[in-house]
Amino acid sequence: MKIQLNRSLPIKYVEAEKKIVCGQTFMDITEIEDCPAFLLELLEELNVPAEFDYIAERYNQPASEEAYNISEILNNLIEEKIVSYTWEQDRYDRHRLFFELSGMNQADSMNALRDATVGIIGTGGIGSNVATLLAAAGIGRLKVSDGDLIEESNLTRTTTFKESQIGTPKIDSLKANLAEQNSSCEIHTLPHLLSRDKLHEFISFFSDCDILVLSADPSNAFELIGVLHSEINIPVINAGYLGRMGLVGPMMDAYSKPGFEQLFKTDVFENVNTTVKINKKYQAPSYGPLNYIVSSICSNEVIKFVATGHSILKEKRLIINPDNYETLVYDYKKDLNLNSLTQHYPDNEVTDQFDIIADFYKNHREGASLNRVILDDYVREVILKKEYASALDIGCGIGTYSRMLDLCSARVVALDTNKKMLDVAREKGGGIEYIQCDLIEYESDCLFDFVILSLVLDHINDYYSYIKKVRSVVNREGRVLCIVPSHVKDSCTSHQNDKMVIENYFYEGTQTKSRLDEHGNFLCELNSFKRNLSTYVNSFIDVGFSLVSIKEPRHPDKMHLGYNFPYFTVLEFKYGN
Ligand SMILES: C[S@@+](CC[C@H](N)C(=O)[O-])C[C@H]1O[C@@H](n2cnc3c(N)ncnc32)[C@H](O)[C@@H]1O
Repeated sequence: MKIQLNRSLPIKYVEAEKKIVCGQTFMDITEIEDCPAFLLELLEELNVPAEFDYIAERYNQPASEEAYNISEILNNLIEEKIVSYTWEQDRYDRHRLFFELSGMNQADSMNALRDATVGIIGTGGIGSNVATLLAAAGIGRLKVSDGDLIEESNLTRTTTFKESQIGTPKIDSLKANLAEQNSSCEIHTLPHLLSRDKLHEFISFFSDCDILVLSADPSNAFELIGVLHSEINIPVINAGYLGRMGLVGPMMDAYSKPGFEQLFKTDVFENVNTTVKINKKYQAPSYGPLNYIVSSICSNEVIKFVATGHSILKEKRLIINPDNYETLVYDYKKDLNLNSLTQHYPDNEVTDQFDIIADFYKNHREGASLNRVILDDYVREVILKKEYASALDIGCGIGTYSRMLDLCSARVVALDTNKKMLDVAREKGGGIEYIQCDLIEYESDCLFDFVILSLVLDHINDYYSYIKKVRSVVNREGRVLCIVPSHVKDSCTSHQNDKMVIENYFYEGTQTKSRLDEHGNFLCELNSFKRNLSTYVNSFIDVGFSLVSIKEPRHPDKMHLGYNFPYFTVLEFKYGN
């Protein structure tokens, strides 16, 4: 297989520091310090594609003379995306580069797009643009529906249609234009407006789609999609307007709760029984530049969903302000479901989520993660302040803090309920006693000098009983370090550039958060519990601890968006007064 330098990555050599810098932004920057001469030469040579084996053989000797393993170096360069396997440069070449830089495999992504069928209901100012972007991106099959003719006023809102096409059915002209755009995209059309009468034709026409874009504006569209979802399960993503704000999402399937039908009941003003519709001539606004913003975001989510199975707009809505480009990811479920403190998640659901996190932790917890960058230096400082006869790490994950404790403790016990986490922790070594067990069931054979619970209590429903249990395993001189997600950040369901918007400060209860990888790609949803600082601190005081310190470590990189956000709160307690 041939390899070459990743064509989409600026790679520079800083001569004075003998350092190679790859990438442009904090999200993709990688540095190679003390770059040996042979590596610089190898990278220069890989401006031109070459066989992996040829390069491995050619640089084997200079690498081993400096005690490096050339295969390991090449594989690391590939893993860090500095070097990539080559591909045939077709019309999608620049998209392939983008996918690779986004941490997606270009071939898998392009194959998924080619094999996908995407439906679009409504081909006006948004649907026609979405269709054009998806056809251009290489979606294999588009199914589009609309019953309208092209009017002159359409030409401001979409550039897909031409003056010569005024008076023709939108779907026919769209089909002709898309065929010119990308002849390999198959187009199927349904010449109807979405309505209750035609719903059965819609259901059978769109039944083989992988995802459906809803960009039609009859006021009962959500209700009709609710009926469609009662018969077929296809993810549907909505794209349109909320007043004069752009709107993309939610993306929901037949199992989403609330689904489109329930959203219709709370969302559409006319459906509130006591209201009377006065403006009978109401028409949704439509503005070309904003249509393009909405269409582009919607197409991007469709492409990501087809290629990876994920979208950040799953059961969320993105609202876009056209005046200042601020965006707000709005989790409308919070408004519908805010009041219960006794909500809990099924146990196996949380375990499955930690299985996914375990894979991410394995590769990144101690590398590029926010925990590593923001928390670990401070936690190390606290841990290494003293020596302990015994220390306990509760919810140890992959044992990051257990290994720190191992440096200054005669005995370290580490508990976690998740087997995958513990397998990784054990692989990483150290003289630590790893035990797969829930804290509440743990029968300790000693009292510990130091206990750490890092990012565990926020996954536990009955946190008070766990805090009581913590007290029962700490000795009278003992200290507890408890790390919880920042209650301020958890109260912000959105941020506007570097400003957080606090939306539900006093809410306490279940909270679903999206976990992203180091590229900002969706990993999984993680169920947790949002609680305020006072709740945690008062519970510890209540069971017999006193507060020693509160620390909110800050992201060290001034250029990082996170520099302005408090991510974690670190609480230190001692036993008694
Ligand atoms: C977010 S991870 C944090 C891991 C580690 N403490 C760190 O900071 O890197 C939370 C961990 O808590 C574990 N966990 C969740 N509930 C638990 C419980 N009731 N008893 C023990 N461990 C638990 C999970 O399996 C997961 O490994």
